[in-house]
Amino acid sequence: MTSKQFGKLSDGREVTLYTLQNKKNATVALSNLGAALVSVIVPDKSGVLADVLLGHENAQGYVDDNSYLGFIVGRYGNRIAKGRFSLGGKTYQLGINDGENHLHGGKDGFHRKLWDATINTKSPFDSVTMHCVSPDGEEGYPGKVLLDVTYTWNDNNELTIEYRGTTDALTVLNPTSHGYFNLTGDPRNTILGHELMIAARQYTPAGPGRIPTGKLQNVDGTPLDFRSPKRISDGINDPFEQLQSAKGYDHNWVLNDFDKTVHRAATVHDPKSGRFMEVLTDQPGLQFYTGNFLDGSLKGKGGIAYQYRSGLCLEAQYFPDSPNKPQFPSVVLKPGETYRQTTKYRFSTTD
Ligand code: GLA
Repeated sequence: MTSKQFGKLSDGREVTLYTLQNKKNATVALSNLGAALVSVIVPDKSGVLADVLLGHENAQGYVDDNSYLGFIVGRYGNRIAKGRFSLGGKTYQLGINDGENHLHGGKDGFHRKLWDATINTKSPFDSVTMHCVSPDGEEGYPGKVLLDVTYTWNDNNELTIEYRGTTDALTVLNPTSHGYFNLTGDPRNTILGHELMIAARQYTPAGPGRIPTGKLQNVDGTPLDFRSPKRISDGINDPFEQLQSAKGYDHNWVLNDFDKTVHRAATVHDPKSGRFMEVLTDQPGLQFYTGNFLDGSLKGKGGIAYQYRSGLCLEAQYFPDSPNKPQFPSVVLKPGETYRQTTKYRFSTTD
């Protein structure tokens, strides 16, 4: 574990970059600004290490970022319709930052916070726990929320992200990790040649503003069927209305067998480099997003412009707009309860 200065905020506070290295010399780096995952450097089938995560070179890049590269987003990952919901007989109005809706916790969500970090080098594998405090009323949400996110990097090239949250008043909580992956190790390539599997028979179709209609739809016979591994390019330009309206994949899949234990939710394979990524989670949903809003205007590490489809996100979460959809699994958190999430990104190679 090493740490170094990653830059400063305009108010003078220092931002730190933490690097965890395992016995295989593979590394992940994290920043306490937005508790962001900054890099994931893993081998290809010949053992060549490369960074498979889009990100920025310094804290300023994260300050200026509007694409949520690598951030922990919250309090609510994804959208809440019109930023409004009712809970315990009261109606709450959240900040609006995506058309007429609330997205990823609002403009000053968790991704804008400088989190406190605790380093743990005593367990078998090094980890960093990031702590954040979200005061009552922040972005319109009720209750003071405390959230800890622990990143652990083990010798199997497995990154575990564990969340623990509490509140002092009835609220909703649904944070997620917004990493953009490109397993080629060079984000000048697109992710279109990656083969994807998502363990889901259903998804939540979206209507205007990418808000779920509330229905669950079978993936069968649609380009959203990833039950068997399939190249992303195979279906992404299909005239299917759900893809056309999103300019690609940007949907929430209903993961099979949700029972709050950790299951394999998705796999991604880059046949050329042989890199293979598994996503395991205890969450009921997975947002698969193909970087449809990247347009080359955002420059990241190495000055590389992030073009359309240069990264893909697999965001483990509860379903978008659940506070307004009583038929979806509940995101309500009560005082005395603990919000928990475990999500793992495991890297290996094939020949
Ligand atoms: C999520 C959303 C997308 C987009 C990105 C961030 O994945 O589903 O619609 O907002 O975040 O750009």
